[in-house]
Order: sequence, then C-alpha cells, then structure tokens
Amino acid sequence: MKRVRLITSRAELLLWRREHPERPLHFVPTMGALHQGHRSLLVRASRPVAGGRSPRVLLSVFVNPLQFGPGEDFDRYPRDPTADGALAAAAGVDALFLPSLATIYPGGEAALTRVSPPPQLTAHLCGRSRPGHFDGVATVVCRLLALVRPDRLLLGEKDWQQLVILRQVVADLGLPLSVHGCASVRESDGLAASSRLRYLSGEERGRARALGEALDAAQALGQAGEDRSHQLIAAVAARLGSAALSADYVEVVDPHRLVPVERTGSFSLLAAAVHCGASRLIDHRFLMSRAPIVAIDGPAGAGKSTVTRALAHRLGLLYLDTGAMYRALTWWVREQGVDPTDAAAIAPLLQDLDLRLLGGVDGEQQVLINGHDVSAAIRSLEVTGLVSTVAAHACVREALTTQQRAMGQRGGLVAEGRDIGTAVFPDAECKVFLTATVAERARRRALDLEQRGFPVPPLAELEATIAERDRLDSTREVAPLLQAEDAAEVITDGLTIEQVIAALEDHFRARVPEDAWPGPVAAGEGSDPLA
Ligand code: PAF
Repeated sequence: MKRVRLITSRAELLLWRREHPERPLHFVPTMGALHQGHRSLLVRASRPVAGGRSPRVLLSVFVNPLQFGPGEDFDRYPRDPTADGALAAAAGVDALFLPSLATIYPGGEAALTRVSPPPQLTAHLCGRSRPGHFDGVATVVCRLLALVRPDRLLLGEKDWQQLVILRQVVADLGLPLSVHGCASVRESDGLAASSRLRYLSGEERGRARALGEALDAAQALGQAGEDRSHQLIAAVAARLGSAALSADYVEVVDPHRLVPVERTGSFSLLAAAVHCGASRLIDHRFLMSRAPIVAIDGPAGAGKSTVTRALAHRLGLLYLDTGAMYRALTWWVREQGVDPTDAAAIAPLLQDLDLRLLGGVDGEQQVLINGHDVSAAIRSLEVTGLVSTVAAHACVREALTTQQRAMGQRGGLVAEGRDIGTAVFPDAECKVFLTATVAERARRRALDLEQRGFPVPPLAELEATIAERDRLDSTREVAPLLQAEDAAEVITDGLTIEQVIAALEDHFRARVPEDAWPGPVAAGEGSDPLA
C-alpha cells in the first residue's frame, strides 16, 4: 500500500506541489467520514490522463462550517480521521490535506470574501431549503482550489446541484481546471452512499430505503409514458408518506438550469430530499425519454470524423456519419447518369431512396444505397469532388435531414456534420463545434498530401483555399455551417487526437451524467478510458 503524505499547512502543500510539476494534479475535496462514493472518486482520480501520464491525487478533508445553516448538523457531523486515513491509503491517494480552520479562512469567517453562485441555480432543490448552503460550498471550494491549484476537480454526481453549481462557478471565474463528475455509488440496500447514513438507526435505515424505491417507481412511470411532472411528484410523495418519511422537497427540474419543468421532455431530473430520524437524505433519478444524442459540427479539416468515431465507440453510441449519406447519394446520382448540379433531376431519385448505415458501436460503418454496398466507393476522388454540389440542393438537404431525424428518434447517436446541432438535432443533449485555426488546418492538409505522395502547394495557398471554403460553407443559403448557440467550442490546435477525444468526452459528461448514461467505460470501473 502506498504511503500517504499528510499535509496540514500551506507551506507543506506548496512543497508537495513542487515535487512533481510534470504530473497532473487531481483533487477530491471532501468533508471526511469517507465512504464507497469517495473511494470511487479517488480511484477515478488516479486514472492516467490522455497521453498516459499518471496524475497525483490529493484528497482534502475539511468540515466546512460555512455550508451548515443554523440548527444543522455541523457539530455532530461524523469525523473519523483514522478510518479516513486507511481508506485514503487503500484507494492509492498520494496526499491527504487536513487544513485547519485558520488555513482555510485566515482572516476569520466574518470578514471573508464569499463566492455566491447564480441565484437561479440555488432557487430550487437543496438551495431552497438550505439558504446560504451553496455560498458556503462555493466559497470553500474556491479557497481550496486557490491553495491546491489542481488540474482536475472530481465531485460526485450524487450531489448533482452542487456539481452543476461548481461547474458554473469554475467556468464563470475562468479557473484553469476541468471538473469531472462521477456516478453515484449505492450501498447494497440501494441507498446512495453518504456520510449522513451513519446517523441512521437500523429501523430508520429500513424506512430510508423507501426514498430510492419511490424514485425508482416514478422513473418506471416515466418510462411507461407519464411525462407530467406533477404526477411523478405525487407518486413519489405518496410512497414517501407511506414509509413515514417526511419530504423536504420532491421536484422535477431541468438537469442543467435546475428550474422546475412541467413535462419531463427528453431529459430531466427527478430529485428528492427527506428527513429520516436525525438525517436529511437526498437522492435523484435522471429521466430520459431516449438515449443521448451528441451533435458535432465544424468546418472541413478540423478532424471531425476520426474523433467522432472514437467518441461514439467510447460512449457506446452509434456513429452517424451524415457525410457518408451525402456521399452515397452523390454516388447514386453519378450512377444514374444525372447531372449533379440539376436539383430538379435529382429530386425524383429521392422519392424511394433506400439509404442505410449499418454497423455498430465498433465505429466501422457499412453504407448501402438501394441495395449497393458503397462503403468504399463513396471515398473515391470523383465522389469527393461532387459531394458538396449535391449536398447543397435544398431537396437533398430536406430528404436526408428527415431521414437523419428519423434515425435519431430513439437517440443513442453521435452525429457529425455541418448543421447537426442547428438543423438536424437541435435538441441534442451535447453539442460541440469542433474547429481549428485556418493555419492549423492548412498545416494538417499539407502533411496529409505529403504522406499520400501528392504535390504540396505553398501553405499560403492552402490557407487561402481553406478560408474561402469556410466563407462559402458559412454563407451558403442551404444548411450553412453554423455554431449552435448552446454548442461548446473545441479548438483543436496543438491537441493530439487523444486529447481532443478526452475534451469531447468531458463535454459529454458535463451534459450527460454517468448516473443517466453510464456508457461502456464508466460501467467498467477500473478500466482506463484512455488506454
Ligand atoms: O460534497 C462535499 O463533501 C462538500 O460539499 C465539499 C465539496 C467538500 C465542500 O465542502
């Protein structure tokens, strides 16, 4: 078992930080009384990052008075340093930071600069019943981040509101780190692992199970078609009542904006808090009417296909290569001897088009059009030269967009193209605009031409061609290349393919929690997503 370095002062922390500046630093803040949920965060924190470097993991234990309201359980919050040390060592933690109150709040609590998260994120769920709680959380976490200066912060999805708020705080303050949420961990009786379970007597623990059962039952109702929030809430409340659990709240909210929704839609969060004996327990279920959809748009040459295929594989989603569909149609247009510039002549070909993408999660796709396997033929130079002409016709766009939407009805896709997040799947859970500067794309194009043995034009010429293609793509009337308002921009300059995939996975996870969609990687705890 690894020896865990004990750190109690700022000076010791500084020294420890300086020892291996080359290794990423992953940070798991806790209030101690560690349990299996913490253990899983720590194990996750120690996984190698893109590129194979193994991080150093720092765990902090600090019971933060600022996040407890008057009459709450600050004084009796469980403190168990010996057991915490043992769990930290077993989980492979490098250092355990046990700061004093004076280290965290040197000027005292009264005169402190406080961090106040946006009120709309704290107006519901725990924020409503625990006024000031999230100010206390945001303040202590910012203070800890300033001291530790980690590259990655890991938090449990069990405290979903806390995770959403801290992501927002980190983004709003421009803190240079990534935030990772990890799936909730459940005890064998179904209760979400929590330090506060320690308060429960045997009898209370038996009753507390009704919280998870009530949420499960409501989730099943949702899956059976009930989408009215008030009905789901009523079902949960009735079940809690019959187990003599007093509900603090039961709400259905948008998982990111955290405001109540009347109908569950494609993705929402059903969350509840109950009082059971002296404990206040929270739990939630994500309600999804279909598997998630990821939309990846961006200009030519940004390297979309390679990373999209790999991302789909990693998340257990189907790769929908919309470009291949336009290419297949282009092949068919040529095959039928139709003029690719003539929309009126192409329109009849769209009537009984049988265009299929087969294949699965391994990312390799078979493309069939009207019974012909054209998987290889669509990559020919002839098709490449004509595809943008064919794809620019409004009738083509409409026919293929309709088909793509039908393919997306059950979700479970990563789709790549130019207008996926804006026109095809505007309700995609995760939208990314993948791009690179013109200079970078020109450099990549030159390299590609060179590797394939073609003459390489001067870089300035390649840059001019790419800039002109961008201009045409973004100003054309039909399906212009557009960044959806709610898309995250990923600029791939200077990143390896592995780093781009990792960045996309981060974006996906910020939008679609593991609790909602574990995916094959998260499901295999201990497996390294980047191996
Ligand atoms: O989730 C917790 O344990 C605490 O809220 C945190 C993030 C450590 C801040 O005190």
